[in-house]
Amino acid sequence: MNILVVDDEATQRDLLGGFLKNQGYRVLLAADGRQALNIFQREPVQLVIIDHRMPGLTGDEVLAQMKSINPTVRSIMVTAYGNINTAVTVMKLGADEYLEKPVDLPDLLKKIQQIEQQIAVDMDIAEAEEILEDGPLPLKIIAESAAMKEVISLTRRVARSPFPVLIQGETGTGKELIARLVHLIGDRKSNPFIELNCAAIPENLFESELFGHEKGAFTDAIHKRRGRFELAHGGTLFLDEIGEMPLSLQPKLLRALQENKISRIGSEETIDVDVRFIAATNRDLKKMSGEERFRQDLYFRLKVLEITIPPLRRRREDIPQLVEFFLERYAATPVRFTHDAMDVLIKYPYPGNIRELENVVQRTVTLARTCLVRPEDLPEEIRYHQETTHGTLSERMKSLEQEMIVSALKKSDGVQTRAAELLGISERVLRYKMKKYGIK
Ligand SMILES: Nc1ncnc2c1ncn2[C@@H]1O[C@H](COP(=O)(O)OP(=O)(O)OP(=O)(O)O)[C@@H](O)[C@H]1O
Ligand SMILES: [Mg+2]
Repeated sequence: MNILVVDDEATQRDLLGGFLKNQGYRVLLAADGRQALNIFQREPVQLVIIDHRMPGLTGDEVLAQMKSINPTVRSIMVTAYGNINTAVTVMKLGADEYLEKPVDLPDLLKKIQQIEQQIAVDMDIAEAEEILEDGPLPLKIIAESAAMKEVISLTRRVARSPFPVLIQGETGTGKELIARLVHLIGDRKSNPFIELNCAAIPENLFESELFGHEKGAFTDAIHKRRGRFELAHGGTLFLDEIGEMPLSLQPKLLRALQENKISRIGSEETIDVDVRFIAATNRDLKKMSGEERFRQDLYFRLKVLEITIPPLRRRREDIPQLVEFFLERYAATPVRFTHDAMDVLIKYPYPGNIRELENVVQRTVTLARTCLVRPEDLPEEIRYHQETTHGTLSERMKSLEQEMIVSALKKSDGVQTRAAELLGISERVLRYKMKKYGIK
């Protein structure tokens, strides 16, 4: 990474420059804004460390000009000690980080490493998005949250390698979607993507599904049949719900993965297969292998590369965009959620994750009478959750108390003696509580 250090004080410039060179960065130095801009136009600079107060152009002026030349440049602004207000302004001007003088070198290094990490993630995402946009676009993936962006970036890196991938995540988090993405952005995309759901295959047919059989190999084997491994040759084989795979078959799968060879049932002949292998599960395979409910050797072979998709409740920033996306998919006419309804949707914990959100949006827009969906139009389980579990116990008790007081006062036309009677408390207590909650 190329780092440009801009500071009018030579000692400070040399201190930072020397330190960063020692850390293996390529460092460029400038003594003022003009010089800095000159260098910036000539050299590819990924990060600028810039003093805020300099004679001539100030740090934020220089940075603004740099951003107009290259909007992706990252920056760390160095400000005088205690100048927090400027620091806030500096962040608003687009600096990624700021540091106070005297600069703490380990802290500087940590910030640079974080920025490097972000640059790498952004590049992976940009690449993945480009590929998704250029391609035939069979899938759209919403990744607004930092957590999901990480997943996409990891997927991008994983897709380049030939090793087995294990995708883990709760039900409905998008495991299948990510498996398809691995295939689509990898170099096997023009070859087949073959899928087998291990939960949907009866145990006695499993082996033949995977490896195929010869005619007459068993009673129902009327014709010769190729298995999923052969069908996926040159492409990707996706075994969904791998946790449900019968234990008895697991050694055979392991052998096929290790040797890239299979045999059809009823045949001695071995067939070479070249498949990219992806498995997915919502079960805890590590725990299962510890309890001997899943072969440990197979588990280790599968998890060479792991992608874990976080549940939706840990990345609520994705919810508004997902709602938009599903509205487009399911609403026959334009439909909108009120601010309050969106709020309820964002707060719900979604045990069924994205699939559940998808169902909620689909059901709601299908049943909606108007083009505006209010909280009361949302499915019962979501409203019910909101009513019963929102806030702590004491918060809920307080809000219940307020509601009851207001309603009693309404019923008694504001006559406090009567309202206190309805509530079963003394007038003095009622007045105290009204004052406490600011009820007039
Ligand atoms: N990030 C996302 N953006 C858009 N749609 C998504 C996203 N993640 C999941 N979906 C959609 O949510 C639904 C569920 O996703 P998927 O089938 O991939 O989940 P899964 O983890 O395989 O679930 P299960 O464990 O139940 O098999 C699909 O319709 C999928 O298209
Ligand atoms: Mg699935």
